[in-house]
Amino acid sequence: MTTAEIRQSFTDYFARRDHKVMPSSPVIPFDDPTILFTNAGMNQFKDIFTGRRKADFPRATTVQKCMRAGGKHNDLDNVGFTARHHTFFEMLGNFSFGDYFKEQAINYHWEWVTKELKLPKDRLYATVYESDDEAFTLWEKIAPELKNGRVLRFGKKDNFWSMGDIGPCGPCSEIHFDRGEKYGVGPEHTVNGETDRFIEIGNLVFMQYDQPGDGTMVPLPKPSVDTGSGLERIAAIMQKADTNYQIDLFVHLVRAISDVTKTKYADHPVSQNVIADHIRALTFCLADGAGISNEGRGYVLRRILRRAARHGRQLGMHEPFIYKLVPALVAEMGEAYPEIKEKQNHVQNVIKAEEESFLRTLDTGCQLFDRVADRVKASGSKVVPGEEVFKLYDTYGFPYDLTEIIATEHNLVLDQVGFEKAMQEQQERSRAGASFLSTNASVSAWLEFANRGKPLQPTEPAHEIKLSDEPMSIGTELLTGTTLPDGRVAVALARSPFYSESGGQVSDTGRIYSPSIYIDVKEVEKVNGVLVHVGTFKDSVRNRFASEPVTAEIDSDRRRDIMRNHTATHLAHAALRKVLGEHVKQSGSYVGPEYMRFDFSHHQPMTPEEIRQVEEIVNGDIIAGHPVVTEEMDVDSAKKSGAMALFGEKYGDTVRVVSVPGVSKELCGGTHVQSTGQIGSFVIVAETGIASGVRRIECITGRKATEYLLGLKQFRREIGQTVNRPESEALEGVRQLKDSNAALQKEIKKAKAAMFSGKGGTVGEEIMIGAVTLATNDFGETDK
Ligand code: SER
Repeated sequence: MTTAEIRQSFTDYFARRDHKVMPSSPVIPFDDPTILFTNAGMNQFKDIFTGRRKADFPRATTVQKCMRAGGKHNDLDNVGFTARHHTFFEMLGNFSFGDYFKEQAINYHWEWVTKELKLPKDRLYATVYESDDEAFTLWEKIAPELKNGRVLRFGKKDNFWSMGDIGPCGPCSEIHFDRGEKYGVGPEHTVNGETDRFIEIGNLVFMQYDQPGDGTMVPLPKPSVDTGSGLERIAAIMQKADTNYQIDLFVHLVRAISDVTKTKYADHPVSQNVIADHIRALTFCLADGAGISNEGRGYVLRRILRRAARHGRQLGMHEPFIYKLVPALVAEMGEAYPEIKEKQNHVQNVIKAEEESFLRTLDTGCQLFDRVADRVKASGSKVVPGEEVFKLYDTYGFPYDLTEIIATEHNLVLDQVGFEKAMQEQQERSRAGASFLSTNASVSAWLEFANRGKPLQPTEPAHEIKLSDEPMSIGTELLTGTTLPDGRVAVALARSPFYSESGGQVSDTGRIYSPSIYIDVKEVEKVNGVLVHVGTFKDSVRNRFASEPVTAEIDSDRRRDIMRNHTATHLAHAALRKVLGEHVKQSGSYVGPEYMRFDFSHHQPMTPEEIRQVEEIVNGDIIAGHPVVTEEMDVDSAKKSGAMALFGEKYGDTVRVVSVPGVSKELCGGTHVQSTGQIGSFVIVAETGIASGVRRIECITGRKATEYLLGLKQFRREIGQTVNRPESEALEGVRQLKDSNAALQKEIKKAKAAMFSGKGGTVGEEIMIGAVTLATNDFGETDK
């Protein structure tokens, strides 16, 4: 079976068994801060498993683009050396949302591998979590062939799956295939061993718990099923290929690597495997809107690119070459994943620029290492300190093994223990930086505590509130409130007009009050459908939490500023695509009351003309006074209608589509003006690069834009006054001043030269007089 046939066979098999075939979500999960990359098929269904979102269907099946190169699931260091590991790969999955459980999941998979793939039963093994007797018994019942000791029990490391430190998890059961003695005999060749003889071809997770992030595990509302099977591994088995890199999907790509590097696969299998894997990872991530940078996922991508470039050097490549492989990958996978075809130019530009910069870095790093080596040698030592090795790794992307090679050339060794210690310290620092996630959990935990441990009731939105309302407020009921350990207070309401930070839009501020309470609300968080309003008591008298009617009021001017900026973000997105091209894709945004920030994929700085064109288009849309229409629809209709899916929205749900007819249509949960005219005007105040391949614009609208433009007018007037010209000639006045200043400097220089050359005073004096006349004339004071 070809890879394409295996993909098709899997989803067809499950579609015939009432599973809804869903598209892959993007490999970059912009909306989930708990993971760097989409690491499994279940990610897009995470909120369904935990009960935060309702599923429209009880069963689903997908072929998911996955990346395992950071966080809990990280195979980066294995890539190239084993037959079966990848950073980017495709995962076949079937999912039950509280529908079938262990028995049916095992049944389906046994049937799929033995009847559809027709794998020989005597080569198959099953594993279960050590205490999962139920799964053990089910395997022996469903697959009696495995009764002869081929159902094995393993501990948490192998048979308990979780998405990350936060998120759903549960015991799992895997299917392994024995590729035979050809791949090794001896005790090290075992199921779950390190070698490539036994290959895991499927993992059935029995989703039963959620990890909120505070170290606890809470049962899920309904036990569910999440399965995952690596497509490339199955293809390798079906095609009797020694490694994943020799399956049909990789043939042309590996050939392109051989051609470009002028080397043979047989001579350099590891380096060619690494390059083949990494070009897929880079292309898919960049096409889905990621950038290359020095932090987070951008940093992981930078390391991946550098690793590929280093292996390129081992093949004798001293010039950028990785970008040249993109077309071969697109030819192979562009049909199944049109996004890589669409973004091919952008991807190539980013990779090429990054390769060029790495080559420069490599030179700098080598010089740096030379200096370190001199110091080490001068001190009479042969050991390069761990911190220096770490600095090269962290700042210049030099992996340990590369530094080791260079060190050997200098007859030096590396302090590995010191390096690992420095690495560990950095990981601890970055973990501390991520602790905001658990703050959310703890605020709602305190509220629940105040609610006598009962779960809080989800907050109803306040649909009746209007933008024109002044004040923007509703009457509602305070359900629970508490004082937090840091002195702030948190309350939950039955209904709330407040917007909680999401999709880049900041939360509303405002107040909640009654005769017994008055809280200044500073931020609002949504946890499991409950809006948690956090703030401080305004006075020392009204500070009692009583379950009673209250008024909830948001700062309406601030909210309107936010809405102007949010709608302007959509208009700017559409205008950028018009001016720069269709490759422009949102990769992040901030929408606040003062300004908005919009990050997008584009490989070079915008020119002043391009900035102006975008400003003109957006301002044109504003004065046209287009209506802004918000509709709810299912995701398929949204896609059919051409709405731009920005952040890997969760499929299978009702989504909100915000459109400005004829201009823009986006999936968005934020708040917007009713007519573009209400935005007033739009100005781009900054354009910068934040990562290679990702640009950022900062923009202002409405009141801020007016203030800015009036400020500019004042500025021009003041300059005019300073150079004694009318406002409209201010620039001309400054230019003349600059020219005459230059002339003056020249004259003074001449005068000084004449004076010091001993030619006597007269020449010098004449020149000085001339210069003074010139200067005063320019200010128009003595002329005429
Ligand atoms: N989530 C599980 C895995 O990734 C099964 O899909 O292995």
